[in-house]
Amino acid sequence: MPTRDQVHNFAAGPSPLPSNVLEEAAQGLLNYQDTGMGICELSHRGKEFKAVIEGAEADLRKLLSIPDNYSILFTQGGGTGQFSAVVLNLLAAHRLKNPVKAEEFKPPILDYVLTGSWSSKAYAEAQRLSLPPFPNCPAFAEPRIAASMKSEKWTRLPKKSEYNFNKEAAFIYYCENETINGIEFPHNSISSSFPFENVPEGVEIIADYSSSFISRPILNLEKHAIIYAGAQKNLGPSGVTVLIIRNDLLIDTTEASKLGCIPHTPITYEYKILSDNKSLYNTPPTFPIYVSALVLKHLLNNKGGLKGIENINKQKAELLYSTLESAEKKNKVKLVVRDENARSWMNVTFTIEGSPEEEKKFLDGAEKRGFKQLKGHRSVGGIRASIYNAVTLESVKLLCDYINEFCA
Ligand SMILES: Cc1ncc(COP(=O)(O)O)c(C=O)c1O
Repeated sequence: MPTRDQVHNFAAGPSPLPSNVLEEAAQGLLNYQDTGMGICELSHRGKEFKAVIEGAEADLRKLLSIPDNYSILFTQGGGTGQFSAVVLNLLAAHRLKNPVKAEEFKPPILDYVLTGSWSSKAYAEAQRLSLPPFPNCPAFAEPRIAASMKSEKWTRLPKKSEYNFNKEAAFIYYCENETINGIEFPHNSISSSFPFENVPEGVEIIADYSSSFISRPILNLEKHAIIYAGAQKNLGPSGVTVLIIRNDLLIDTTEASKLGCIPHTPITYEYKILSDNKSLYNTPPTFPIYVSALVLKHLLNNKGGLKGIENINKQKAELLYSTLESAEKKNKVKLVVRDENARSWMNVTFTIEGSPEEEKKFLDGAEKRGFKQLKGHRSVGGIRASIYNAVTLESVKLLCDYINEFCA
């Protein structure tokens, strides 16, 4: 029976959390701050939980330097829930800005940047929600592909010239880090970084940051309308989703629905309802929010803020990629993402070359050494080492030693 120290967990999510945070959470689960009751047994309307959620919000605002004209919301439904919620809320916001008569209504364009599995799923959901409510009437919206790397199997990001943004789009949607394919927009101004400078004026930008949230500062945070992330990679346990949303987008979707021509927004997905109720419109996932609050405190107190976290994550990624590049030269492995600038710092994807038995041999050997959950996503196979914030540099070094040994 291995102990936590003997295991190196490279899971893509849910993923490892810092042991000291879990120890504190375990205590809080039994007896929160000497109340004699566990955190999950306390009312979400009581003063104790109010302090937890307000603390989490303040700490996240500090960690990411979130300006005052943005709200932070905690909600449920995961990243997948946001595939729907962003469409519903932004179509409503767009309708309020364009209150033409129903006969004159023109379905707004929604521009999607497809760089992997998750942005593709978000696009599919936008298509589904845009379908006309009954035959022979206009669609609610017109989702379009502004760029897609599907034909190249997601092995690189679009070049600046390959984007086709529409100046009339209601929004542009992208996924900052594609967890399954291991591709991420770089933050330096090289050819594959996200082309903020080419986004037409007035077009809102939405970003799915689920698997790179709080791994480094958010590039051009203030150019975004909405940034969202499921917690279960860098922040906390699954069950809570965090949103950073510009305040003018907190609109009354019922008012918009009265104008017609938009899909109705379920009440728990309306951002304004969430915001007006300080993320407590209905019962929130108290335990995931509590653990996330502890993780944020831990990061603020221990790691020199986001710059410190970024530094360590950069070192981990550089070490692992350089090890894999050496192994690639010996034809032992192949990195999935060919554009080295677009390689994810969080999810490192590669295949083991040679016969299919080689991959099994690699995974069996890894398992024996305590390296867990290295198997790639079921849709793509191969190997994926996820090296989120709670994976230590030491664990990455040990994995590199194993790769070197395996590929010798
Ligand atoms: C980038 C990204 N977006 C969205 C999702 C979907 O999140 P959830 O499973 O919380 O709905 C995931 C899940 O891993 C993800 O990695």
